Amino acid sequence: MHITIDGLAKEGDGVGRSPDGRAIFVRGALPDEKVDILTIEERTKFLRGSVVSVLEPNPHRIEPFCIHLSEGCGGCSLQHADQELQKQIKLRIVKEAFERIGKFDAFSFGYGGGVQPTRYRTTVRCSVHNGKAGMRGFHSHDHVPLNSCGVAHQQVEEIMVNSYFGDIDEVVIRTSSHSGKSLAIVSAFDQTIKTPQGVQVVTVNQIREGSSAYIVEYVYGKEWRISAESFFQASPEGSELLIRTVKKIIENNVSASASMADFYSGVGIFAGTVGSGRQVTAIEQNISAIEDSIHNLKNEIDHVCSRIEKWEVSSHDFVVANPSRSGLGKQVPKIIAQTGASFVVLVSCDAAAAARDARRIVDEGFELGEIVILDLFPQTSHVEVVSTFSR
Ligand SMILES: C[S@@+](CC[C@H](N)C(=O)[O-])C[C@H]1O[C@@H](n2cnc3c(N)ncnc32)[C@H](O)[C@@H]1O
Repeated sequence: MHITIDGLAKEGDGVGRSPDGRAIFVRGALPDEKVDILTIEERTKFLRGSVVSVLEPNPHRIEPFCIHLSEGCGGCSLQHADQELQKQIKLRIVKEAFERIGKFDAFSFGYGGGVQPTRYRTTVRCSVHNGKAGMRGFHSHDHVPLNSCGVAHQQVEEIMVNSYFGDIDEVVIRTSSHSGKSLAIVSAFDQTIKTPQGVQVVTVNQIREGSSAYIVEYVYGKEWRISAESFFQASPEGSELLIRTVKKIIENNVSASASMADFYSGVGIFAGTVGSGRQVTAIEQNISAIEDSIHNLKNEIDHVCSRIEKWEVSSHDFVVANPSRSGLGKQVPKIIAQTGASFVVLVSCDAAAAARDARRIVDEGFELGEIVILDLFPQTSHVEVVSTFSR
């Protein structure tokens, strides 16, 4: 079937229409292309297709550098678009989400930069089959074994490719680009596991029982302890770009003495940088992350180990909130309003969640300000959205 692609789904599929009007999601197709497709799934409301041939390519289409894409690897969905088109696609994904999900008519948004397009990921979650690390397939749970991964940090790729992981089914590989130390966090114990020398192999249970496993990264002129169970951005470069972006916004919008509530604070990267010299409360539910934050920032700030939803609200002048991919808990916009904050920065790693949460914050009496889009995940359709609000 020949179709014209005029949209893009947030997972990176091109979107066109079948002759009967149903949407067709086409992996590997780009906006403004004419493609010949094969239908691979048919549902009442939509179809899925794969590209047989590109009849009229987008001028920004390029040859993907990874051989594993054609084997179905689901890790990168936009390698066939050049950097300029990836940027335009991400801007469009965010714009459409704010219009469609957030129901905003007019807003100011712009691109705030990105990380290097290859070798950026210092943490990678891999599936394992027959001892070999790989990635899940696109829209599937199939295992695709990897002999290379161009978005992984060199050291992460080396561990991925040159290890034998026995009978386990999942491993998280995390490396420090600062010290070179690496962790392989495995789903279960298996004495046949073999990794390159120097890699600390630790099971999820050993960590929960108190084994020490951490790396130290260097971001914004400081060393940060990041334990195996603590969240950290996909790369220290991305973390640094986020900090600089949020710091600049805060400096332009609130006074130097304004107090800060850091919601979903992780190991403390915003509290310890944007909050430097301020009265800060950091609220984080994960014990490992809050222990890292206490190690990293000592008593410079107040630490609260709690779900935001259970936190005893106290007054703060501004809030920085950086939730996980699912976005703010439903009650959290109200809690933000209860802090009395006059300014809010919301950092979201999912465009749909960003737009939904922005609407909920506005419904609490705030006005949406500038939105900055960052590319912390090149080659994928993921995007980081920094939205601002004032009242
Ligand atoms: C995307 S991470 C951000 C961490 C930190 N801001 C950073 O950039 O490194 C989200 C954090 O929120 C924490 N979290 C998730 N749900 C939470 C909740 N309901 N209350 C408090 N913290 C939560 C997670 O443990 C995780 O550390």
